[in-house]
Amino acid sequence: MQDTVHVGLGERAYDIHIGPGLLARSGELIAPLLRRKRVAVISDENVAALHLESLREGLQAAGIDMVSKVLPAGEATKSWPHLTDTVEWLLEQKVERSDVVVALGGGVIGDLVGFAAAVLRRGVRFVQIPTSLLAQVDSSVGGKTGINSPHGKNLVGAFHQPSLVLADTGVLGTLKSRDFLAGYGEVVKYGLLGDFEFFQWLEGNASRAAAGDMDARIYAVKRSVEMKAEIVERDETEQGDRALLNLGHTFCHALEAATGYSDRLLHGEGVAIGCALAFELSARMGLCSQEDPSRIRTHLREMGTKVDLADIPGDLPDADGLLDLMSQDKKVVDGKLRFILARGIGQAFVTSDVDGELVRKVLSEALSAR
Ligand code: GLY
Repeated sequence: MQDTVHVGLGERAYDIHIGPGLLARSGELIAPLLRRKRVAVISDENVAALHLESLREGLQAAGIDMVSKVLPAGEATKSWPHLTDTVEWLLEQKVERSDVVVALGGGVIGDLVGFAAAVLRRGVRFVQIPTSLLAQVDSSVGGKTGINSPHGKNLVGAFHQPSLVLADTGVLGTLKSRDFLAGYGEVVKYGLLGDFEFFQWLEGNASRAAAGDMDARIYAVKRSVEMKAEIVERDETEQGDRALLNLGHTFCHALEAATGYSDRLLHGEGVAIGCALAFELSARMGLCSQEDPSRIRTHLREMGTKVDLADIPGDLPDADGLLDLMSQDKKVVDGKLRFILARGIGQAFVTSDVDGELVRKVLSEALSAR
């Protein structure tokens, strides 16, 4: 019940192992990377309480010692002070250029630790052990690392590919249902952007995955990661196709900013709402059929995740306010917003050719349905 996806990036190629029980096997899987049998592990307090001991035992089974540092949980950790603290700790622990750093946690830990590894001694290798669904299918794969700045999210960082990813689907059992479903927003995104058959599979099977069926969880993670790997192999540094992975994200980032990056809206929930809006906009532009947005909404509703602006509690800015927030997105090039639109489910493409008035109309109708 385990699978492997290879990311073919020449000298920086790596494997993503997917399946239950990988924490227990971490030692044997990481050992081939090591020159000396010692790793530095960084986690957050929530994940450490649940999984740090299992990791220690898994490493110990292969005779690997571990030193560990536990950071506060939450987005605020992805910041300069915690980056400095982490890098200085790694130096204190005498982590050398040939050593390996391990990130055990969700997207925040993966991004921060990956960036710390990228700058430590001009770059040390790191292993991602993602513990959230979102990190397993998105942030732990592809080498985007970084922190937030007071100017915005993910504005400081580096491309630094991991040497190995261990996506232990067993640990997904410890997630709260809301967090699992938020991660699901990123899973469904892959079907919507490039694989109609996968979307159909999700329509039939994703509720089993949400209910805990391990085979369904493994397949959902595997297909997502396979698609991400294919895209990253084509366009590692996002000169073109990698932007497809941002389907739903232009809307999502505006909604996240409007809700103050609070738990009124989790990132993956914003992605799900954003994907539905991107298809709505595509349908209005005559690019895809009118049925596509409602089919997507129906599926997301059945899964029990957020789908519409009406699902976001509290006040939101009006359509102009949201458009304003969108124009601050880092995908703006020469003052023009880039959108990911679709010619149908599984057929996304990148364009700057979008009428701002139509976006305003789609947003104001979505707001008036609240
Ligand atoms: N999360 C989008 C990317 O990795 O490009």
